[in-house]
Amino acid sequence: MAQPPFDVDAVREAWDHAADAYAGRQASGRDHYRYQFFGPAQRAVCGDVTGLRVLDVGCGAGYFAREMARGGAEVTAVDVSPRMIEHARRESGGHAVEYLVADAAELASRLAGRSFDLATSCVALQDMPRVERVLSEVHQLLRPGARFVACIMHPCNDMPLRVWERDHLGRKRWLCVDRYFERTVIEYHWRDWGEGFTTAALHATLEDWIGWSLRAGFELRGLHEPRPSEEALRRHPDLEDATRIPYFLILDLRRPASPGS
Ligand SMILES: C[S@@+](CC[C@H](N)C(=O)[O-])C[C@H]1O[C@@H](n2cnc3c(N)ncnc32)[C@H](O)[C@@H]1O
Repeated sequence: MAQPPFDVDAVREAWDHAADAYAGRQASGRDHYRYQFFGPAQRAVCGDVTGLRVLDVGCGAGYFAREMARGGAEVTAVDVSPRMIEHARRESGGHAVEYLVADAAELASRLAGRSFDLATSCVALQDMPRVERVLSEVHQLLRPGARFVACIMHPCNDMPLRVWERDHLGRKRWLCVDRYFERTVIEYHWRDWGEGFTTAALHATLEDWIGWSLRAGFELRGLHEPRPSEEALRRHPDLEDATRIPYFLILDLRRPASPGS
């Protein structure tokens, strides 16, 4: 089957088209997975960010950039979609974040001379066509010893074939997945988000993600698989599936303090 287009122009166009519905859903607070578990989990992995210079990559409507600014960081946030950046600026909530429209695969020249204490990326790397290059550009922009904390869709269950088997009442019984080893572009249909929209993202194996990170020069400090707390589940029973399957993976990477250290 032909793959959907997945170059920077196609991705920019898709996310520009999606931006109003995407930002609207986030602003409504109904993005429960984000607000109830994977967002707070990624925030916790970042730790105390007071006074840090933070780079947020693929910032979308600015959710994680604002989290960092709220924590006292000085934030630069980039996204390839101009419309997303418009939303991020509008939703700034009084936080002084520097927003830039830029391709994350061209960041090092765009931000030449800058050095960051922390980089973050919230569910965005899998949407980027030249992700190996993105990892290398982010690595170049970090000071030695600084971390890159990136939340991606979990590669072990987000794959070309992925269907929930349901019972006669529509309840989720088990997740059927297949074709894990196909490195391919998957089309996502965001049906419940405003009028709906379609985006494309990369499926790669866990081995790919770790290999790309290491080859970019990072060391792996840890991996986290966020899931909802019992409290979150009581408030939002619709999160139950996320207590059974890891939907998200947080990579905690670090640029070594000195070459080879
Ligand atoms: C799923 S959204 C996530 C947005 C935001 N981080 C969040 O938490 O809602 C993915 C974002 O990645 C951006 N993106 C995709 N490719 C990019 C690239 N090459 N450079 C910068 N941003 C990119 C898209 O425009 C989109 O805003």
